[in-house]
This record gives sequence, C-alpha cells and structure tokens, in this order.
Amino acid sequence: MTGVALIGSGRMGSFHGETLSRRLPGVELVAVADPAPGAAAALAGRLGARRAYQDADQVWGDAEVEAVVIAAPARFHAELAVAAAGAGKHVFCEKPMALTLDDADRVIDAARSAGVVLRVGFNRRFVPDWVAARGLIDNGQVGTPRLLRSLTRDPGGFDPARIAPGTIFNETLIHDFDTLRFLNPGAEAVEVFAVADALVEPAWRDRGLLDTAVVTVRFDNGAVGTAEACFEASYGYDVRGEVLGDGGMVAMGDGRRTGLTFSGAAGRLVETTRSDQELFGAAYTAELAAFVSAVAAAQANKKLSETSDHAHNDIHRRANSGVNRPASNELSETDNSVSGPDNGVSRTDSRVSGDDRHRGDDGYGATGEDARAALAIALAAAESVRTGKAVSVRAGQAVSGADGAGAQAEARAGAESVAGAEAGAEAGAEAGAGAGAGAGAGR
Ligand SMILES: NC(=O)c1ccc[n+]([C@@H]2O[C@H](COP(=O)([O-])OP(=O)(O)OC[C@H]3O[C@@H](n4cnc5c(N)ncnc54)[C@H](O)[C@@H]3O)[C@@H](O)[C@H]2O)c1
Repeated sequence: MTGVALIGSGRMGSFHGETLSRRLPGVELVAVADPAPGAAAALAGRLGARRAYQDADQVWGDAEVEAVVIAAPARFHAELAVAAAGAGKHVFCEKPMALTLDDADRVIDAARSAGVVLRVGFNRRFVPDWVAARGLIDNGQVGTPRLLRSLTRDPGGFDPARIAPGTIFNETLIHDFDTLRFLNPGAEAVEVFAVADALVEPAWRDRGLLDTAVVTVRFDNGAVGTAEACFEASYGYDVRGEVLGDGGMVAMGDGRRTGLTFSGAAGRLVETTRSDQELFGAAYTAELAAFVSAVAAAQANKKLSETSDHAHNDIHRRANSGVNRPASNELSETDNSVSGPDNGVSRTDSRVSGDDRHRGDDGYGATGEDARAALAIALAAAESVRTGKAVSVRAGQAVSGADGAGAQAEARAGAESVAGAEAGAEAGAEAGAGAGAGAGAGR
C-alpha cells in the first residue's frame, strides 16, 4: 500500500481523492488537507481517509504519508511541492507546477535533492488518442513534424472577476504548450508570438482579462506549433490536436461524447463533451496510476539499494576481516545489481524535457523539467502579448522583448492580485449552467 495525502479538496482535488480512494488498487488515501473550514473533513469523511488537516504543514510530519497529490490553487503549488519534497514525500502536482521559472527550479531542485518522484498533471499525455499519436511519431510513421496544433475550448460560464491575469497562458494553454512539446519529442521552443483578447467578456478587456488567445511556437527542429484557447465554446468542452510531418498527419480528439449519431429530420447529429472530467476522467485516473507506479518503483529501488548496501558492507566487513574473502566477480555482481541509492528516481527522472524517451512502466508522465519548459513558453506568450513582439526562448528563459523579467513579474503579480483563497481560474465557471456546468476556464 502506498499512503497518499491529498492537498486541496476542491473540484480537481475531489476527483483525484476519489481516484486515490476508489479507483487505484495498492493506494490508500491517508489524509486530506485544505485550509477552508470543514472542507478537508468533509471530503475525508466521504472518501474514508483517516485524517483531515486544515494546514498542509501537518501532512509533512505524517509518517504514513509517502506521497502527496497537490490540487490547491496554482499560486500555492511551488511552496507546497518544495515543502513536500523537503519532508521526503513523493510529489504529484497539478499544473502549473509554478508561476515563475525560479520557483520551477526550486521545485525541481527540492525533488532532486530529496530523491523523490516529481510528476505534473499534464493529463493529455494519458489520453489514448494522444498516446497513440506519440507512438506513431516515435516509430517514424508521421515523419519529421512540420506543423503542430493544439487547442482548448472551455464551455464558458466563468466569472471574469475570478480570472487572474495570465490565466489563459499559465493555466489553460500550458496544457497545449506541453502537448506541442510532447508531440515534437526532443525539440524545444525557441520563439513565441502570441495574440490575445477578451472576446467572450469584452467589458473586462480594460481590466486585463484575456479569454481568447492564439500562440505560435517555433521549435529548434524547425517545426512550427500553434496553440489556441477560448474560455467559451457554446457546444461544450473541446480539446483537439494535430501533427503534420513529412510522412503523414495525425489528428487527435473529435469532441464526441459517445460514438452515437442521431439521424432525423434536421440531419445527422452527434453529442459533444461538456466538461473536462467527462472528456478526461480516464486520463486523470491514468496519470495518478502512473505516478503511483513511479513511486512504487522508486521505493523498490531504494529498498534494493539499501539491502545491497547492507550486503556490500557485510562482504567488505568479511573481506577486511580476512574471512570468506569473496571472488572479485562476486563483488562486482553485487555492485551491478544497483546503481546508487536514488537509482529508481534518477532512472525515471532522467527521462526529461521532450526527449526521445519511450513509454515506461509509468507512462509518459510529465516531469518537473517538462513543466518548467511549458511554463517558459507560457511566460514568453504573456510577454509577447504585452510587448506585441515575438519573444525568444532560450534554455527555457524568455530573452528578448521589452523586459525579460516582465512576464514572470506579471505572473506573480497576477497570482496575488485576486482576492480570496480560491480566487483565480481554478474557481471560475462552477456557475456555468447547462452545457458548461462543472467545467470552467483554466482547465
Ligand atoms: N489538469 C487539468 O486539466 C486540471 C483541471 C482542473 C483543475 N486543475 C488544476 O487543479 C488545481 C485546483 O483546481 P480546482 O478547480 O480544484 O480549484 P478549486 O478552487 O475548486 O479548489 C481549490 C481547493 O484548494 C484549497 N486550498 C486553497 N489554498 C490551499 C492551500 N494553501 N493548501 C491546500 N489547499 C488549499 C481551497 O480551499 C479549495 O478547496 C489548479 O491548479 C488547477 O489548475 C487542473
């Protein structure tokens, strides 16, 4: 059993909590933490978790918690992830992992020095269409990618007052930026140009709302990607993608709720998906299953290396005492069986940054480096809108435009400018009635 604590029990946290307590074998939801009075206790009670904490700090000292799933609002992610890793807990963090590159680095460093698994909630890496597309790209059938496309359309019904500046880039399009990287393996963004506006809620334009955006991303292998998002589509929640290479084209997502078509006097109709949890429920489950499997592998490797260290020391002790001196190949066999105390973690975490990795036991889960690279594109896009210019991205840093630090500062200011503990896009759109119910901007 892997003991997991859920941090943040809102809309996404509730779904993850249900996954941890009901959908995954070998996992126990040990605790739920949420600062909103009564929120953790209510979810813990419903899901049978033994402990409810109002302060996430209480999780760090809980010896039965081996891993955490962070589903708090974005502006708390980096602090929570650093603290969790510092306490030796494996970390699954909802996107975005951080709102600045410095914070992203802090999370990556904390996980690395603690030797814990770090995965980020880019769920499209676990949707069958996208996984199959990546497979065709990996085996060469699509050829070298030339044009890539990824789009997100939310069902609308959001409250513009609760949308922090930068949300469309940091929380929504960040999925598309990660997807472009995922489908262009090994390539990194070099230049970003973005156009954005408030077309759904034009009255909020002057207050800085951006609810509609198109971003062009040029990659270092020459491919050009387009990411687009709109916070309102009258027909529901719509996520699609496409890659055109010199060998062919793959297209992902058709927006259908089921395989049903209805033919009648008005013509032929299909039903469309209405919310992220409807479209991506299975992917949300699969990403946590993959995380838990990465944690189990890391723990098994740690145990193996401890056992082996033990055996190794024993052999040395016996060798030094002159008793039972082992044949030299006996020693090297022992040494080959493991490769250091963080063997499992470094093996999985070295599969990073849009590289040529293949699907492992834990799927294509996004690492901290993947999350940082997607954030770098998001920050460059925000800066491009601000300056009206293309922004270069080198080694993950926006390096041109009026002020390279501007986008980061804006992200931080935006995160802090919205009042209320749950304010921000995470809270948006719960009010969405009918078609939009339950889904919202920033998914
Ligand atoms: N992968 C996806 O497609 C997807 C979809 C939806 C949401 N999300 C992400 O999940 C996160 C949460 O979104 P949501 O829609 O559940 O938001 P929400 O507002 O419904 O819930 C947030 C919860 O976190 C709690 N909280 C606030 N501060 C906290 C803290 N410091 N520690 C612990 N809990 C805290 C709040 O009380 C609230 O219960 C966001 O980062 C969002 O971007 C991802």
